[in-house]
Amino acid sequence: MTEKSGKTFELTDKDAGRSAQLPLRKGTLGSAALDIAGLNKDLGVFTYDPGFGATAATESRITYIDGDAGVLLYRGYPIEQLAEKSSFMEVAYLLLIGELPTAKQLEEFTGNIRYHTMINESLLRFFNYFHHNAHPMAMVSGVVASMAAFYHDTMDIHNPRHREIFAHRIIAKIPTIAAAAHKHSLGQPFVYPRNDLDYAANVLSMLFAVPCEAYKVDPIAARALDLLFVLHADHEQNASTSTVRLAGSTGANPYAAISAGVSALWGPAHGGANEAVLSMLEQIGTVDNIPKYLAMAKDKSSHFRLMGFGHRVYKNFDPRAKIIREMCHKVLAQLGRSDNPLLELAQRLEEVALKDPYFVERKLYPNVDFYSGVIYSAIGIPRSMFTVMFAIARTVGWVAHWQEMIADPSMRIGRPRQLYTGPVQREYVDIKKRG
Ligand code: SDX
Repeated sequence: MTEKSGKTFELTDKDAGRSAQLPLRKGTLGSAALDIAGLNKDLGVFTYDPGFGATAATESRITYIDGDAGVLLYRGYPIEQLAEKSSFMEVAYLLLIGELPTAKQLEEFTGNIRYHTMINESLLRFFNYFHHNAHPMAMVSGVVASMAAFYHDTMDIHNPRHREIFAHRIIAKIPTIAAAAHKHSLGQPFVYPRNDLDYAANVLSMLFAVPCEAYKVDPIAARALDLLFVLHADHEQNASTSTVRLAGSTGANPYAAISAGVSALWGPAHGGANEAVLSMLEQIGTVDNIPKYLAMAKDKSSHFRLMGFGHRVYKNFDPRAKIIREMCHKVLAQLGRSDNPLLELAQRLEEVALKDPYFVERKLYPNVDFYSGVIYSAIGIPRSMFTVMFAIARTVGWVAHWQEMIADPSMRIGRPRQLYTGPVQREYVDIKKRG
């Protein structure tokens, strides 16, 4: 392959006497991308990249990750600055609109979210018919998809105002749906959202309040949850965001696309890892057992993985993991739980793993899920709800990517090709003549 004029690569098949011109598309940051759209037509071949490790599926202006440097930018703003200075509602506005809001814009946006938090009473009754021990992610994905049965009036995906109303509705209602799933699991009455509380405080109130006594939101827990929402809000073309884009590319209604994203996030290799980390830490139990479990993590036949470790893109520290680790100390100290055994075990596990050649050679570092469960636990959120918390935050990123895609006039249905390795054509054999 030779590079021509700095802008186009030429790929030549000398035997076939064919060549393809591959224009080089450059972004504002990160790797440029070879445009291979004409490759199959010009050269009769596909590219092969299972897992999409080296494939840019789209162009996007929302989030940028430098995996080697451990950098994460939301619309160009470093996650460390947003974590320290911003709020989830402000970050939601930034991801959706592309700029930080003025005070007036933020107040209006926050108001739009605040006054859409209730869900239709018929939708609330759906929860009565789930099995009592249904996993909350199963309930959330089902009820989110069912929102399409309630909002026919604003589902014209080519109408910008409908897209804006959808964004406000789903961001406002996903916490109410999440909390209702939790209350159903407990057999407790649903708690309605309160307009006097901010977003994260409302989540805590709907999760933990009960009708028989006044509930006071712990400001430390609310701030910690708001910060976790900021850190989980978006992350480029991760599996669940790519799922939302692919589902949305068919023209399916946005609630169906978001529900598909919830389902994809549930997997333990993705957002389900935060729940799996806590189970793993409990399985390890004590610091003395760390060597045994590290050995299992390195033994492929064990099928045991160090949950919360490793990342497709980060080959350095996940900046979110660093922020959450610091947060653990602060929040646990503020809550008077500094001697949290889970945190001590997690830190020791990190120390030992980061000195082990297996993890060092493979550049396996703690990711966003490694410490988040320690904080969720400390503020009283049950393990089964950890991934639901992730889904609440990532709904903002899913909506931002869905809107970016639908608003793009060049959008086409996503339809990957394959390398076929099955049987060549053969004739049908009557069952009487089969062996
Ligand atoms: C999230 O994409 C995103 O941005 C996701 C996310 C987001 O915000 O949306 O950041 C959120 O999903 C974080 C990741 C949460 N998942 C986990 O913590 C589960 C544990 N981690 C792994 O399963 C794994 O690291 C992945 C899924 C995160 C990444 O998988 P890759 O990129 O496909 O890497 P791989 O499986 O090819 O692993 C490369 C090597 C392999 O060994 P070799 O074949 O080279 O000998 O590293 C090994 C793997 O066996 N490896 C691990 C490991 N992770 C990778 N070995 C032990 N423990 C691990 N956790």
